[in-house]
Amino acid sequence: MKQKLRPRRMRISENIRAMIRETILTPKDFVYPIFVVAGENIHEEIPSMPNCFHLSVDNAVELAKKIFDLGIPAVEIFGLPEYKDEIGSSAWDMKSPVQRAISAIKKSVPNLTIVGDVCLCQYTSHGHCGKLCNDYVDNDSTLELLQKVALSQAQSGADIIAPSDMMDGRVAAIREILDENSFENVSIMSYSVKYASGFYGPFRDAADSAPQFGDRKQYQMDCANSREAMKEVELDIDEGADIIMIKPALAYLDIVKTVRDKINRPVAVYNVSGEYSMIKAAAMNGWIDEKRIVLESLTCMKRAGADIIITYHAIDAANWLK
Ligand code: PBG
Repeated sequence: MKQKLRPRRMRISENIRAMIRETILTPKDFVYPIFVVAGENIHEEIPSMPNCFHLSVDNAVELAKKIFDLGIPAVEIFGLPEYKDEIGSSAWDMKSPVQRAISAIKKSVPNLTIVGDVCLCQYTSHGHCGKLCNDYVDNDSTLELLQKVALSQAQSGADIIAPSDMMDGRVAAIREILDENSFENVSIMSYSVKYASGFYGPFRDAADSAPQFGDRKQYQMDCANSREAMKEVELDIDEGADIIMIKPALAYLDIVKTVRDKINRPVAVYNVSGEYSMIKAAAMNGWIDEKRIVLESLTCMKRAGADIIITYHAIDAANWLK
């Protein structure tokens, strides 16, 4: 008996597979995160994130040039400050590594898009993402601090502000301060759906941002919830978010798909440190084919609906895709 329908016919050669391929990954999909530190000529590997580095501003600029030449359109800047205090005031200090890196990169690579991560956990002595009132992270007084951070990054030359703190109302607060200061063309990419996730473990080492007590479950989302994700997205759209981000990526692709199907804004995913380091560790042990698994994972994020993928694999993937 002959089969009438044979899906295998469309898989018979790479040419045919390429003709019907629905999702094409390109370096244009990527944003590469950079960790900047004070000092000069610093290039130190982050132990929990193989092949990711703490860079001083001079080296961050050199890397930014390479990233641009690879066809990657954007970088996201994270910083390790020189001092921490109760309210995280080094987060809006114009002399801090982040602000200096943003302006130096903007100057040398003006066409590279710069995303500034806005949060306080790397800058507060207690490691929480906002201002404490006893042991509670106070929402509304934190908003004023986030406004200062966002404004300082826009003044340094950031093109996109990405708040990752998960305070309620922060998108509106940031939009307001940007507009008041004539930064109406600076966009907001909101970490709208950010789960309280164990997958951030290696980043907290990289950014020295682990909470000194408790956890982030009173502000980041419960991994068990998806309806709540849509509520967060709707609020952020109302408040003026230009790009909606979901974080982490791989274990949350159902959320990416739901958000993609329901909204008409660009969708970003953050392929976070734990997702990266698991692949790296397995690859270093020879257990998996790194190139294959990275390209497969990134393609699946795009297939699920991501327009933008923030990933530590961006440089390797862009080289492989050449
Ligand atoms: C800051 C922030 C975190 C990440 C991005 N911004 C850590 C956290 O919320 O604890 C995680 C990124 C990663 O794991 O790669 N709030």
